Amino acid sequence: MPNPVNVLCIGAGYVGGPTMAVIADRCPHARVTVVDINADRIAAWNSDTLPIYEPGLDEVVRRVRGRNLFFSTDIACGIRDADIIFVSVNTPTKNFGEGCGRAADLQHWEKTARQILANSTANKIVVEKSTLPVRTAQAMDRILNSNTRGLRFEVVSNPEFLAEGSAIRDLENPDRVLIGSHETPEGRRARRAVADLYASWVPRERIIESNIWSAELSKLAANAFLAQRISSINSISALCEVTEADVDEVAYAVGTDSRIGPRFLKASVGFGGSCFHKDILNLVYIAESYGLHEVARYWESVVRMNDWQEARFVRRMLANMFNTVAGKRIALFGFAFKANTGDTRESPAIVVTRQLLADHAHVVITDPKALDNARHDLAGVDGHVEFEADPYKAAEGAHAIAVLTEWDVYKELDYKRILESMERPAFVFDGRNILDHRRLFELGFNVFPIGKSPLKQP
Ligand SMILES: NC(=O)c1ccc[n+]([C@@H]2O[C@H](COP(=O)([O-])OP(=O)(O)OC[C@H]3O[C@@H](n4cnc5c(N)ncnc54)[C@H](O)[C@@H]3O)[C@@H](O)[C@H]2O)c1
Repeated sequence: MPNPVNVLCIGAGYVGGPTMAVIADRCPHARVTVVDINADRIAAWNSDTLPIYEPGLDEVVRRVRGRNLFFSTDIACGIRDADIIFVSVNTPTKNFGEGCGRAADLQHWEKTARQILANSTANKIVVEKSTLPVRTAQAMDRILNSNTRGLRFEVVSNPEFLAEGSAIRDLENPDRVLIGSHETPEGRRARRAVADLYASWVPRERIIESNIWSAELSKLAANAFLAQRISSINSISALCEVTEADVDEVAYAVGTDSRIGPRFLKASVGFGGSCFHKDILNLVYIAESYGLHEVARYWESVVRMNDWQEARFVRRMLANMFNTVAGKRIALFGFAFKANTGDTRESPAIVVTRQLLADHAHVVITDPKALDNARHDLAGVDGHVEFEADPYKAAEGAHAIAVLTEWDVYKELDYKRILESMERPAFVFDGRNILDHRRLFELGFNVFPIGKSPLKQP
């Protein structure tokens, strides 16, 4: 059994909660505490209704909470007792001042560094778990090691690659774990201590050690590459719609090339989530700040293509519903940015809803897990919007259904029953290409998939 170790995670969000639950589960020798300034969130982590929905998460938390996993608001005490501190606070895009709309807002991050410094009485390893601009560790180092108390902090970068919706599976069986440190004896010792935690369940050959700047930049680059694939196939989807090519057939033909591979080639209404936009914009901002304008423009176009795809989806709805949706009831199937999560941050559904409302549609939103977040996202938005847990009721009296999240439940609905309750002509805009389009057409719907010819009733 390895030596006991005290692990702290600051930030009990989508990353901190699941990551620490799995570390506690797989490392019985570690006492893991997760702290947050948000007392409601901590209370939820300590209750039967966890603050986030993630398949498999409840089971892991139930196994380890109170054994070697603890959720608390006592940040100072957590810091004092910890040997290794993971920092997993949010790093959203700045919405003010210099770099507004592109640079990362590092205020939470810096506050955390100062809190660590104020409450430490011994040397510690500080792990960057949040996604950060490359070279953030330099600022961390300067803040933490500015102390005159002889304390030494070793900053390590261990970016998280989990995907929401499959977080527990990704954490239990990661493609790789990346740990970067300064290439000094102390730095390498710190990164080895973090690697030892993961080695309790991750094969050593999947634990990649690197210099700290490579680790920071790899996370931004990985997200940019993933988003780029979606924007690439979405750009092709627009071309498919005007040439009678079928985007699923094209994606299959392209993706079976072993140099390209099949994943992340699914055309859709667009990508969302808390990471892709902000991390690419952050990359763009960094490139610009080094005078690399072509690099910045290149990556910026990935986000622009996504914005265009979202807007194009609504334009296509309008164009095919006789150029007006004013007063028409439109049911949105799904609001989460993807299936198996309740997270709606940067969800294309937000943009689609706002644009439909701007055109005076009457929007009805249904989603199995994201209705509370949807209500929050649309608070104060002008227009007629309803929230309805039951998709059948949402579709009642609607002129159109737009599928915005690829929840399995939408594939299995009784569309004959749905059609009978809708206005005619009835439209389906499948923003995720998950429905059986031919069957819907045969039932009597006008069907508009992404990147395929529409199936229109005569
Ligand atoms: N969500 C993802 O899928 C994902 C995946 C990989 C990496 N990341 C990165 O991980 C980081 C966290 O993301 P998230 O989705 O978990 O964010 P989140 O907003 O769900 O959670 C962050 C938490 O940090 C807390 N916090 C902020 N400042 C604090 C402070 N000073 N002290 C204590 N707690 C504080 C907030 O209250 C919040 O609960 C981000 O940098 C993100 O880019 C996210």
